[in-house]
This record gives sequence, structure tokens and C-alpha cells, in this order.
Amino acid sequence: MAMLKFKINRFNPDDERRGHYAQEYELDVPKGYTVLDCLNDIKWKQDGTLSFRRSCRSGICGSCAMTINGVNNLACETQALALKSAVITIEPLRGYPVVKDLVVSLDPIVRGLMAVKPYMINKTPPPTDQERLQSPEDRERLEGLYECILCGSCTSACPSFWADKEYIGPHAFLKAYRFVADSRDEDARAHLEALDDKHGLWRCHTIFNCVEACPKDLNPTRAIAELKKELVKGKMG
Ligand code: SF4
Ligand code: FES
Repeated sequence: MAMLKFKINRFNPDDERRGHYAQEYELDVPKGYTVLDCLNDIKWKQDGTLSFRRSCRSGICGSCAMTINGVNNLACETQALALKSAVITIEPLRGYPVVKDLVVSLDPIVRGLMAVKPYMINKTPPPTDQERLQSPEDRERLEGLYECILCGSCTSACPSFWADKEYIGPHAFLKAYRFVADSRDEDARAHLEALDDKHGLWRCHTIFNCVEACPKDLNPTRAIAELKKELVKGKMG
């Protein structure tokens, strides 16, 4: 148990003149409390106006991504005492429009995602008695690609996105490669189409911020490199 200070970035759309400001709270934090537990305690016992997004509380839904002591992370997977910091600073994910306090608009995430057609395209009718099968080797290729929870931490950390709000973003590139690499998908070109664009793959400068920011230890930069190869192959083929 330790008394910690939480410095939380606040914004109320009904009081735009005040703009963004930091508000401090103190909380006696028991061992085992995540940052999300702390935020819940503050909201339920100290200040019901504090807004943040959360759902699963177990690192699955991606809702609670926020910037904790300057690092993008999931609040529900971050142990408060393990931060070893008497003051914990919490801000909304950088780069996205803030709706209220720690809640950001997911529109840029969805827009990037829709550009890559994030679903399997296969016009061949499926077998009537079983699902579409693939070999263990083909399934292996999807490791590190299908686990994305769309938390938006990677794109929020990307300087190319800060400079270009139309940038499709590493979260969407990873999703595109998840389908391009899938042996059951029949139309890689459809996923790649939007990527060959000034807001697409070529704007990635291999800075690796997305890799560092991913709370699921995924590697969008590797997916981007593979997609670039696919685009070049398509141009030469
Ligand atoms: S790749 Fe990682 S950081 Fe990016 S949206 Fe998916 S889980 Fe979040
Ligand atoms: S609440 Fe779902 S990932 Fe944190």
C-alpha cells in the first residue's frame, strides 16, 4: 500500500474555454491495483465527472489504452506500484481528437482500418461440412498478426500520423497484412490497393515507435516491410 498522486489530463467539451488542464488526485493504492483500478476508485469515490473508456479489464478489448507516465499502455494491464513513481501522470492517447478527459475519438482508427478492407475476401463457396481449412504452416504465418486488439497505441505513437491525419496507420497495416498473409484470402490486391498512396505505406519511415508502443508486443513495422515487398512485387509482376 502506498499513497500516490495521480496527475490526470482533463478536458470538458462543454467548457472549451478552459481547454486542457491537469487535475491532481491522491489515492492509497493497495498492492495488485492496476492503473484502471485506481481510475475506477477515483471516479467512484472522489470525482464522478472523470471520464475514461474501459470494458474487459483484462487486456482484450483495447478500450483502456492511454498514456501513462509518457508511455502508451493499457491501464488494465499496468500495475500502479510497479511504475515506481510517486506521481503517475495520465493523458489521453496522443494524436487523436479528445472527446472528454481520457476518452479519444476512434474515428481515425476506424478510417484507416476500413481503407484496407479488414476482412477475408474469398469468393469460392465454403465447404458445406467444415470450415475453410489451412495447413499448420499457413496458420503459423498468422502468428503475431491476428492478436491485435485495435487499441490504437501504435498509431498514436507514430510521427507520420502526427504529421498527416489521413495516414492510414500501423494498426491498419498490421491488419492488412493479417489478411494478405492468410492462405484462405483470395484477393491480396484489394487489401493493398489503398496502401500505395501518399497517406499509405510509403509514409512509414521505419521509426519503430509503433513496435515500442504496442502493449501486445506485436510488430507493425515488420508487417509494413512485408506489405512494401508485396506492393513492389505487384508492380513488377
Ligand atoms: S498493433 Fe498493438 S498497439 Fe497497434 S492497435 Fe494492435 S494491439 Fe494496439
Ligand atoms: S479494459 Fe479492455 S483492454 Fe483494458
